[in-house]
Amino acid sequence: TELWAVIPAAGRGTRFGGDVPKQYLEVAGRPLIAHALQALLAHPRVAGAMVALSPDDARWPGWKQWNGKPVMRCVGGGERADSVLAALRALPAQVDDNTLVLVHDAARPNLRDTDLERLIAVAEAAEHGAILAAPVRDTLKRAGEGDRIAATESREGLWRAFTPQAFRRGALIAALEQARIDGVVVTDEAMAMERTGARPALVEGREDNLKVTTAADLALAEYLLSLRDP
Ligand code: C5P
Repeated sequence: TELWAVIPAAGRGTRFGGDVPKQYLEVAGRPLIAHALQALLAHPRVAGAMVALSPDDARWPGWKQWNGKPVMRCVGGGERADSVLAALRALPAQVDDNTLVLVHDAARPNLRDTDLERLIAVAEAAEHGAILAAPVRDTLKRAGEGDRIAATESREGLWRAFTPQAFRRGALIAALEQARIDGVVVTDEAMAMERTGARPALVEGREDNLKVTTAADLALAEYLLSLRDP
């Protein structure tokens, strides 16, 4: 059965100066969003992608197809979850509520096909979807007054949530709509699902599936992509 990719790319975030939203920053000669699209659409079972863009986006290259697969666009929203919800609703009619959708940040250019494959396999067998993630490796400190350490928190059982995150379309729409009704800002799709009582699976993924947020991340992404086969 077919899967669809959903890429929230409506962020206006230009977190490290300049006026280029980060999904359009270039690494290895292409914008970050091109790497995200390529990674998802390279999978034989991913039928197409829906990209959520800011209404005033003047940089979208206007791709209609990628590797012969449809790339569609819609208008995103004020928060990431609004963009994802808009994209899920805008999927073409043949994408039914049971279709597994892969939500992936435009700003994550280094997703590997081995991770994507494992995520899909787990998500298809799971009751409530699955996400790529990795255990926390650093010791965690809680900041107190004046940024002095108030406490050391246990990292046991704590994971960092990555993307893609894979859920059935209908269940994810319902969960995101509920979060909106409740006025809760969810920072990933799994959080919306968890609020409904779902328990998505954690799939341990590569730590180099980084989200570009800082200038240092951009340099690291450039290096990581240079290590990959052309
Ligand atoms: O800002 P952050 O790193 O959390 O953004 C993650 C992804 O969500 C980016 O690809 C960004 O473009 C997207 N996003 C969105 N709509 C928003 C905010 C962020 O599609 N309102």
